[in-house]
Amino acid sequence: MASTGLAGRRVLLGVTGGIAAYKAAELVRRLGDAGAQVRVAMTENAARFVTPLTFQALSGNPVRLSLWDEHAEAAMGHIELARWAEDILIAPASADFLARLAHGLADDLLTTLCLASAAPVHVAPAMNQQMWANAATQANLALLRSRGVGVFGPAAGSQACGEVGSGRLLEPNELVEALANTHRPQTLAGRRVLISAGPTYEDIDPVRFLGNRSSGRMGFAIAAAAVEAGADVTLVAGPVHLPTPAGAQRIDVRSAREMHAAVMRAAESADVYVAAAAVGDFRPQEIAAHKIKKRGDGGMTLELTQNPDILADLAALPRRPLLVGFAAETEHVEAHARAKLERKGLDLVAANQVGGGLGFEADDNCLTLIDHDGTTHLPTASKRELARQLVDIVAQRLERRETGAARR
Ligand code: C5P
Repeated sequence: MASTGLAGRRVLLGVTGGIAAYKAAELVRRLGDAGAQVRVAMTENAARFVTPLTFQALSGNPVRLSLWDEHAEAAMGHIELARWAEDILIAPASADFLARLAHGLADDLLTTLCLASAAPVHVAPAMNQQMWANAATQANLALLRSRGVGVFGPAAGSQACGEVGSGRLLEPNELVEALANTHRPQTLAGRRVLISAGPTYEDIDPVRFLGNRSSGRMGFAIAAAAVEAGADVTLVAGPVHLPTPAGAQRIDVRSAREMHAAVMRAAESADVYVAAAAVGDFRPQEIAAHKIKKRGDGGMTLELTQNPDILADLAALPRRPLLVGFAAETEHVEAHARAKLERKGLDLVAANQVGGGLGFEADDNCLTLIDHDGTTHLPTASKRELARQLVDIVAQRLERRETGAARR
């Protein structure tokens, strides 16, 4: 887990009123494991779900509940606590709390602390999926984001209220990881990173298409890691069901030709292009205007034509971004990837074995990075962790390319 960035860090954990407050107890422990010093402030409603004593025992510090507590104010006043914090994390953040924070209210201790502190504020929303989807909540979130407030999650899944959808608090270890990642070195600051992700769909007729099993998760993880590393990120996404990583600009496309057009346009200003998309190599020669009908017992033949190769077209440009290709192989991974590096004129190839629980639809992956200097193995890890490692290597290559060009 990338939690080393939290060692010795003073984290003020704000807990607001929602059933997910029970997860905040575990979060205190996990933050402590990552080396953070934790103090907890709760809203009055949060204390209806979990007692302050729980957080006091877990954090080893008194818990603050109210602005009007004379004893607590005498010990460590709220302004002192606001100054003490190096990070503020509100988890769970209720819809009501987000609304109050977005509008600059200071009507309780927690909102006052947020306003009175210079520390970065991060919120981990948790609420009923309908409340999350509500336009008011989304507008409040957009306002908070525009002011630099970090938003962690929420996740989708089954909820305490019995509904299913977006609005679940991230798990404590995910929150610790997300907070630690806000302290990652800004290796891509000022860089424009273009990423393609997901499959392409090639229409056969109005109801059928040719597609592939790419989930888009690797490309989306790279986009998130590049944002974390300070890049200006454009994500060209094929048809996938994934939320846009916060801070990335997303362009949705469907076919390989649409992806080609979007990438070529965005590449003009990009420093690096990471081609994580599984672009369909072929498309039907013609798209039938109406659903193709069965004709007797006979089969049918689909005439296919080749799609443009986005990477190869970019490689042929006189001024081209650093080009990172992906190679999903079922055998002879390294040899095939090295051949691809040469054939397509790439700067780096990230190769992975597909099948056997790895690759397209899996959470974990492992990558072999191949360039003209040699081979680097990134062992099996979550796609998020691999994406961070890849992003750091891309940052090094960009720097090296520039110093090389400056010397010439
Ligand atoms: O040659 P192959 O399709 O295996 O190469 C895979 C790499 O090339 C991936 O990075 C993919 O995004 C890219 N590609 C492309 N345009 C295509 C096919 C693949 O950019 N038409």
